[in-house]
Amino acid sequence: MPADSFREDVIEGLSQPQKCLPPKYFYDAAGSRLFDRICRLPEYYPTRAELALTRRHLADIARFAVRGCELIEYGSGESLKTRLLLKALRPSVYVPVDISSTALAGAARRLSAEFAWLHIFAVVGDFSQPLRLPVFRQRAGRRRVVYFPGSTIGNLAVQEAQAFLSMSRAQVGAGGAMLIGVDVKKDANALHAAYNDARGVTARFNLNLLARINRELGADFDLRRFRHYAFYNAPLGRVEMHLVSLARQAVRIGRHRFEFERGETIHTENSHKYAVDEFRALAGEAGFRGVRLWQDRQGLFSLHGLAAE
Ligand code: SAH
Ligand code: AVI
Repeated sequence: MPADSFREDVIEGLSQPQKCLPPKYFYDAAGSRLFDRICRLPEYYPTRAELALTRRHLADIARFAVRGCELIEYGSGESLKTRLLLKALRPSVYVPVDISSTALAGAARRLSAEFAWLHIFAVVGDFSQPLRLPVFRQRAGRRRVVYFPGSTIGNLAVQEAQAFLSMSRAQVGAGGAMLIGVDVKKDANALHAAYNDARGVTARFNLNLLARINRELGADFDLRRFRHYAFYNAPLGRVEMHLVSLARQAVRIGRHRFEFERGETIHTENSHKYAVDEFRALAGEAGFRGVRLWQDRQGLFSLHGLAAE
């Protein structure tokens, strides 16, 4: 990640009337480790729900994606759920793409040790920008599949999600497919617990963004004067994470100075939740047809099998 665009995005975000920071910057080495801990928290249901779904329907998922396919995964992180797919699909090539070079390197190392037969092309990249993947010629008759688990799509604004789905549609080509994990709308209490865990790991994950700005951009955020705040914004169908300024204060980043009122927030993340039909409509606009749907009985999470039209 070029330091310049990090600096520019931070300055731009903190200059808005509602201060905000792009969530993709959560994932430095410390942030990626904290996210892995979030995935193991009792309150954070998405990882467990998606893992259970993948395990239970693995044979069906493999029939949908087709053995020997070319598998591209966005936001692969520690590639946890992917292990199940790799075993069942034996893809001809696996292309994990992530903005976090540390998470990607760790995952690639573990996967090459576990799956000696697997061709891995790991790409450090930002999927919110037009992205050129390493040139590997698509073989005739080989299905190309984009895998996007974890409901990471929810962290994109609806228009960005649309652009991402369209990019994926162009990448898989005719006959291609997408397998995507999407968190669904549910009881606000369950959502509140998932983003306000009792151990405070999510709070540390959120605050690490300010620590990263201090470390990499030489800023002087006092982490004791900001507090994690997350809530479900039901009309907009998304969990919002913010950092609340506990006092009237000013923060310096190089020659820039940002003033905070007491109670003012920095909006750091949205996590959109989609009803099944709502998500299918979004995918439809990008040229995908919802052909398979895997869901748990409690209706916690959805895994969509999309075919390129
Ligand atoms: N797929 C994993 C990890 C989800 S966390 C799971 O399901 O558990 C989100 C992942 O996406 C992180 O690994 C993060 O580094 C990556 N990420 C977030 N924004 C990104 C972006 N704009 N481009 C590429 N990777 C991104
Ligand atoms: C990666 N992403 C889908 C997570 C989410 O649930 O939106 C990031 C996260 N933020 C707080 N907890 C987890």
